Amino acid sequence: MTHRIHCIVGARPNFVKIAPIMRALATQPGMSARLIHTGQHYDAEMSRHFFEDLAIPDPDRYLGVGAGSHAVQTARIMELYEEVLDDERPELVLVVGDVNSTLACSLVAVKAGTQVAHVEAGLRSFDRTMPEEINRLLTDQIADLLLTSCRNADENLLREGIAAEKIHFVGNVMIDTLRQSLALAAGRAPLQQWGLEPAGYAVATIHRPANVDAAPGLERVLAILSGLGERLPVVMPVHPRTEKRIEALGQREQFAAVRRLRPTPPLRYLEFLDLMRQARLVLTDSGGIQEETSVLGVPCLTLRPNTERPITITAGTNRLVGTDPAAVLAAADEVLATPLPTEAPQIEGWDGAAAGRIAALLSTALGGS
Ligand code: UD1
Repeated sequence: MTHRIHCIVGARPNFVKIAPIMRALATQPGMSARLIHTGQHYDAEMSRHFFEDLAIPDPDRYLGVGAGSHAVQTARIMELYEEVLDDERPELVLVVGDVNSTLACSLVAVKAGTQVAHVEAGLRSFDRTMPEEINRLLTDQIADLLLTSCRNADENLLREGIAAEKIHFVGNVMIDTLRQSLALAAGRAPLQQWGLEPAGYAVATIHRPANVDAAPGLERVLAILSGLGERLPVVMPVHPRTEKRIEALGQREQFAAVRRLRPTPPLRYLEFLDLMRQARLVLTDSGGIQEETSVLGVPCLTLRPNTERPITITAGTNRLVGTDPAAVLAAADEVLATPLPTEAPQIEGWDGAAAGRIAALLSTALGGS
């Protein structure tokens, strides 16, 4: 008997997580996984290039939801995914991460009586102003299997009253992808062409609504990048949200004037991995990059007041620095005055084998082949 599973993806960080899971499910006897792409991210730079770099099979269904307010985007995904679920009747729906597609498809599945497995369950920033925190809390409340990437997530779930037997520590699938891609990524970032030396530049990625949506946040980002550019060259792949806000808030000239700032369109996965691996320092407000820099042993300054990934601080290379320009630049100076770590930290379950554990667990949960 073959067990039918839907794997859901919508936005860029989902692609990085689903790649090793699709591969592991393809080799697990008795499992048949279909890939459903909601289309939350749709530009080639945000979507198709990731499928190519990560060798993800083409989606079996593409919902094409595109952009919209949170309510519109979530509702559209629910309407469209319900039709697909009714049509295909999978036994289990696997969702990853914390984007709107994660919550929308979980809600549809659970109300149709279909089991839901949530990969990267239990992460908490304890900041309910973040849309992702709401998506995480609600998805975890309704999922049947909560697959966690760090022990701290297990504790968060238990504290929220989730039954212990639903929680399974499996490790970090994003790190599976990173480990599988390192050799392929070597040489992909055009450092020479950009006039950069290994360990002689910083990388910045900034796209969270709290940092880019309103003028005060964006002005702080501008001040941070200006100060950093005084110290070393800064490569900044610009997320579409950030690009739109810079334009709408009339800040294009100010950003263009920042000394030694090299804005680029969003980079491909392998190019970005190679760029990050050789950086002296990474500044980010992303979630996944805090994890990736930890495994690469590259210092990371997170431009947020909190993180849902505290293990990257206690065991990795991450530091929470907020967004006050003076504080961020002081932290950058400390990093630049300290030699780069010679060894990358080892974190439990971030070993490249998480997807295999997930496939085995799902097979058991569905009653084997
Ligand atoms: C989403 C996720 C966030 C994740 C991020 C990674 C939610 C709530 N947020 O945020 O957790 O860290 O993805 O990138 O799900 N746009 C394009 N082209 C695209 C995709 C988006 O131009 O391919 C534009 C949209 O039109 C919109 C903006 O970028 O104006 C934001 O896109 P959206 O999907 O709403 O959320 P993100 O900010 O990308």
